[in-house]
Amino acid sequence: MNFIKKQEELIKNILLENHYAVTNVALIPSSRPDLGEYQFNGMMALAKKNGENPVEAATKIASILTNQEDYEKVSVAGPGFINITFHTPSLLKEANRLLEKDNMIELLPKKKVVIDYGGPNVAKVLHVGHLRSANIGESLKRLARKLGYDVIGDIHLGDYGLQMGLVMLEIQMRYPNLSCFQSDFNDEIVKDLPITNEDLIDIYPIASGKSKTDEAFLEQARKITYEFQHDHKGYKALWRSIMNISLNDMKEVYQKLNVEFDLWKGESDAETFIPEMIDYLRKENMIVPSEGAEVIEVKKAEDKLEIPPLLLIKSNQTVSYETTDLATLWDRAHNINPDEVWYVADKRQELHFIQVFRASYKTNIISPATKLEFIGFGTMNGVDGRPFKTRDGGVMSLRNLMDEVETATEKKIIPSITGEERKKVSEIIAVGTLKFADLLSHRATDYIFDLEKFSDAYGKTGPFILYSTVRMRSLLKKAEEEKINFVFQELKNQTDKKVLLQVLNLQKVLENALQEKSLHEITDYLYNLNNCYNNFYGENRILTEENNNLKQSWLALTKLVYEINLLILDILAIKVPTRM
Ligand code: ARG
Repeated sequence: MNFIKKQEELIKNILLENHYAVTNVALIPSSRPDLGEYQFNGMMALAKKNGENPVEAATKIASILTNQEDYEKVSVAGPGFINITFHTPSLLKEANRLLEKDNMIELLPKKKVVIDYGGPNVAKVLHVGHLRSANIGESLKRLARKLGYDVIGDIHLGDYGLQMGLVMLEIQMRYPNLSCFQSDFNDEIVKDLPITNEDLIDIYPIASGKSKTDEAFLEQARKITYEFQHDHKGYKALWRSIMNISLNDMKEVYQKLNVEFDLWKGESDAETFIPEMIDYLRKENMIVPSEGAEVIEVKKAEDKLEIPPLLLIKSNQTVSYETTDLATLWDRAHNINPDEVWYVADKRQELHFIQVFRASYKTNIISPATKLEFIGFGTMNGVDGRPFKTRDGGVMSLRNLMDEVETATEKKIIPSITGEERKKVSEIIAVGTLKFADLLSHRATDYIFDLEKFSDAYGKTGPFILYSTVRMRSLLKKAEEEKINFVFQELKNQTDKKVLLQVLNLQKVLENALQEKSLHEITDYLYNLNNCYNNFYGENRILTEENNNLKQSWLALTKLVYEINLLILDILAIKVPTRM
């Protein structure tokens, strides 16, 4: 068992034996390293519950802990904080255990999870908002997998709503003579469609603009949406053709970002399940008429805010964003039967998910045993604090942003890297810069993307971590050439021990991040770990150290930190360049 978790168990048992009603003990790295290495802050609350003086209670527990074999010094500070210094041989033993294959991470009990992330809208250009869903979702998926869950990632394309009708109408107005608009059309795709992905970039904004001022245009787009949702040959084929163009482009961008979906399903795939789901809902008397539309009531007596009913079928007989999400759950429940479903979407969509979750439990589309979780994220803004714009004020596409970061990155790479390699390395670092920055704050907070700050090789940034990883790798390579054994035998000073203490906290950081569904604790940890390591590296000459035991221990320490870097960078879906 992981060393820190083992200590938490031990302290918990001691507390229970001493009549403290504790459920969970959390040991955290000390905020006052001068007083101890790890600390336990729970004693004050526990003493209070028992009506005891907290300092006295903490002193009693500290004296019991002092006699345990893994503890060197335990003291009490302030109102009852317990500070712990571990016995160094215990730490070395644990460090050697971690060096062995497959010991770095402890698996959690298995769970089957569907994660719904990315969620780009077909026929609309990927913008920076989609970076967040893809990036956070991909990392959560990888984190959960590392901790032993079975996770299925589904992109859930936005490919069924009014936006498709708008785009199709705009195309129809531009090219009324296309084969798909003729009555004798009978093909699966539109072979004469003269549209590229470049064209799609402005077709949607133009159509959407028209629909806001031109009532007839909007009405016509709704009608097309209805026809397309009811198997009109021509519109279905046009839709398929637009999908092909749009998906090719999307796949390229996601590949650049190291984002990999297991399922490329979309709202439109819910179509198959909508009729049987609606039959079922009618039989169960769950559907209520409302002003020509049909809805499911989802409000509860205890609601403080008004939760409107879920709009199932609109008055024009098209289905809504809620309906496709409900039918997608129908599909997932019948065909995957997951323990949990996670939705990574903009936090402004929370109400939508409250409606969908409530409706699916109320109607038993989802069993009470299945947990549905909304993982909302904040906005990425420009340095002016406003949503990201291009220099001329347009909406910043994800591709534009990636290009901008790549250009800035390229300038900082060492001159001896040239040609193709230079291009490749700048791309890897640029993606690392972008992703690390995006995962730095708690996912739900808005943040400002400051390229200057996020690409600083000495800051809390992707390039800093990558640089540190590349340097460790070359050190380890030299040591391997000298055939040095990597094994912990002793430590010399505080700088090496501090690194090891950080290493020990890995498991808990990963588990907390999974619990919180946010990567910020992981990026923070990675930064602190590498910072500690760099201090240690700056103060000691590892390869020329004469004490062989120490040299082997330091290399073992380097190896552990390097392995953790690789592991976490893999969770963050960031690649490591050969050099930089
Ligand atoms: N396509 C949606 C949008 O861009 C996000 C999809 C989120 N996932 C879901 N199952 N509704 O707003």
